[in-house]
Amino acid sequence: MSAQQASLILGLPDAAATEALGRRIADRLRPGDAVLLEGPLGAGKSALARALLRHLANDPALDVPSPSYTLVQGYATKLGLVSHFDLWRLDGPAALDELGWEDARAGVVLVEWPGRLGFLRPAGALHVALHIEGDARRAVLSGWPDRIEGLA
Ligand SMILES: Nc1ncnc2c1ncn2[C@@H]1O[C@H](COP(=O)(O)OP(=O)(O)OP(=O)(O)O)[C@@H](O)[C@H]1O
Ligand SMILES: [Mg+2]
Repeated sequence: MSAQQASLILGLPDAAATEALGRRIADRLRPGDAVLLEGPLGAGKSALARALLRHLANDPALDVPSPSYTLVQGYATKLGLVSHFDLWRLDGPAALDELGWEDARAGVVLVEWPGRLGFLRPAGALHVALHIEGDARRAVLSGWPDRIEGLA
């Protein structure tokens, strides 16, 4: 990654703003994409993924549980399989095999706690770092040089 890679900083004053960002990302996804969701506990990683998946499914009531215990939840969508990972409890990159990482990469992967990916961290991913600022959030986006401008 180039140190000069463009990044986009967005204020997210409330949960609705996080959800709207999730929908803008959904509209630009392609099979093979990876969206890496960084940020501390409660930053809104699952909230963003939930809004993204509901928008893709065109179903505002779609059940999107946090995968903190199952580590991965799969969704059949118009883009093919979209896999939502939460790797907080992952033992190491080798354990990703058992979760079906290779097959998941053919579709779209949304990954909470992507630091656990180690050497399997995908090149060309969209990185979304969520920062907690009081009651609000700030998102720092990088990657997707051909698409990042549309996320503002
Ligand atoms: N921009 C925002 N401003 C204020 N609150 C927000 C914002 N975005 C999301 N939230 C709220 O913050 C909480 C985030 O919870 P969420 O489970 O999505 O966090 P998470 O990053 O996935 O945490 P974990 O690491 O535990 O999985 C939710 O209650 C959500 O409504
Ligand atoms: Mg979460």
